[in-house]
Amino acid sequence: MKLKIFKYDPAMDAESRYIEHEVPFKDKMTLLEAIVWVHENKEMIAFDYSCHGRMCGRCAMMLDGTPVLACCAPITNKDHTVEPLKGHTVIRDLIVDKSAFGDRLSKQYQRIRTEPIKPGEINKFDAAVAPTIYDMANCTRCGVCDAGCPVLAEKPSQYAGPATMLAIAYRFLDSYDQADRELEAVSKGLYHCIMCGNCDKVCQRFEIKHVEAWKMLRAAAEKRNLKPSYAK
Ligand code: FES
Repeated sequence: MKLKIFKYDPAMDAESRYIEHEVPFKDKMTLLEAIVWVHENKEMIAFDYSCHGRMCGRCAMMLDGTPVLACCAPITNKDHTVEPLKGHTVIRDLIVDKSAFGDRLSKQYQRIRTEPIKPGEINKFDAAVAPTIYDMANCTRCGVCDAGCPVLAEKPSQYAGPATMLAIAYRFLDSYDQADRELEAVSKGLYHCIMCGNCDKVCQRFEIKHVEAWKMLRAAAEKRNLKPSYAK
């Protein structure tokens, strides 16, 4: 099996290139295992990982044009192309700078209150939505969903992307949040989403149901007549 791997060190290289190496294939091999083999036996590659089990999101990258978590992406005994995660500046080889994305998302996840929580509100969490909100909390903020979103690629100024939309949906379900999340979702492009489900397909946190969350936000928006005219 051959791996064609993106190489680029902005401090040294005028432009990016690809290296190619034959890798001994084994059954149930993951992309991460194949990269580690090349790194240890053929040529040094800059790449990132930690948990080995879809928890940390650090190994996000592109495999044959599809965003994956390398630690749980199976590879076949064929030739494969490995590139850095789409949508971010390359720091080196397969490592990208996700700091702006992470900062934006952390801000988006903040609970907004116009007044402090009152004693009577404590333990008034809506139990019916708890399973959904706990599932959403599994998002590792790896950026794979955004890298796989065709609408974000085409209309980044109109659609904030699935990672941001999930953060909005999360706070929409939070009984203690006081921001207008339906309005925020619509203003950040909820109706530009084409509901293709690619975010669900590429996300390795299978508990998260992105399209279901968008449907929930749309239903809430429509109850308030917030559906934009371009979507009618
Ligand atoms: S190494 Fe943590 S998600 Fe892949």
